[in-house]
Amino acid sequence: MTVTEQDLQVFINAVKNISAYDFTEYSEKSLMRRLEKVLSDNQMELHEFIKKLTQDSIFLEKTVKDITVNTTELFRDPVAWHMLKYQVIPALSSRDVINIWHAGCSTGQEVYSMLILLCEMNLFDKSNIYATDINTDVIEASKKGIYKYRFNLGYLDNFDKVLKENPNNPGEIKDVSYSKYFEINKVKDIITMNKFLINKPIYKKHDLVRDPNPFEVVYDLILCRNVIIYFNYNLQNKVFGLFYNNLSMDGSLLLGMHESMLGPISSRFEKKAQLYTKSKKFNPV
Ligand SMILES: C[S@@+](CC[C@H](N)C(=O)[O-])C[C@H]1O[C@@H](n2cnc3c(N)ncnc32)[C@H](O)[C@@H]1O
Repeated sequence: MTVTEQDLQVFINAVKNISAYDFTEYSEKSLMRRLEKVLSDNQMELHEFIKKLTQDSIFLEKTVKDITVNTTELFRDPVAWHMLKYQVIPALSSRDVINIWHAGCSTGQEVYSMLILLCEMNLFDKSNIYATDINTDVIEASKKGIYKYRFNLGYLDNFDKVLKENPNNPGEIKDVSYSKYFEINKVKDIITMNKFLINKPIYKKHDLVRDPNPFEVVYDLILCRNVIIYFNYNLQNKVFGLFYNNLSMDGSLLLGMHESMLGPISSRFEKKAQLYTKSKKFNPV
């Protein structure tokens, strides 16, 4: 089923008129592909789909969840985790408390990766982990901390790369057992995160398009990876403004591997690969 730009506008306007969701500033290309998929999964023409959206609020909520992309993995992009492990988190380690926000946390693999890394760095107890997403289903999945094993075997490779290997000293291998952090049940085909990890994060539904800071906190580190790639330039800059205003001085924002900050606000950050640090140098008093 092919969706035209006009179809997309009809969909966006309908959702905006009947709900608080606003996809106006999402990137058109990916939204079109998602709408095509949702229409085909529902076996519906656009006009009947819109009619159902306006009449059935549960269907509307489900559509919003289906239209967003939730792909994620444990220690996704190990290079980024090396940067967190060797540069970013050590620089925060002397703070009394470390506040970390995962914006667009999806099903939680990024959150658990952070919890595990903090544990390995002996910073677990003094860290607060906040996690938000627009989609309450993925938040519930994150709270459960149960993942498919066979489907996600790559998780263990990433775990090894980040926690056992040292990219600065290739021969060195640290012994870190999986069982300290999760249980692998090959018969049931599941990985279950250990309770002490599951119980730590604070979750909230949050829409980056329109909501203010979800917690009354200033963050030392914000991870917003593979989320703004679905937003247009204008919305990306709006979201960067939200992050900037709620980051501590010398706090950092980490974006996904294919994302960068291009607007004027980028001049207020020190950039190193996908990491943007709010530095005094760029914010003189
Ligand atoms: C591809 S996942 C990224 C997950 C994780 N950060 C990672 O990099 O592996 C993108 C997430 O952004 C969420 N998202 C999309 N639009 C959003 C919005 N307006 N506000 C908050 N979250 C949003 C989606 O629900 C999805 O869970």
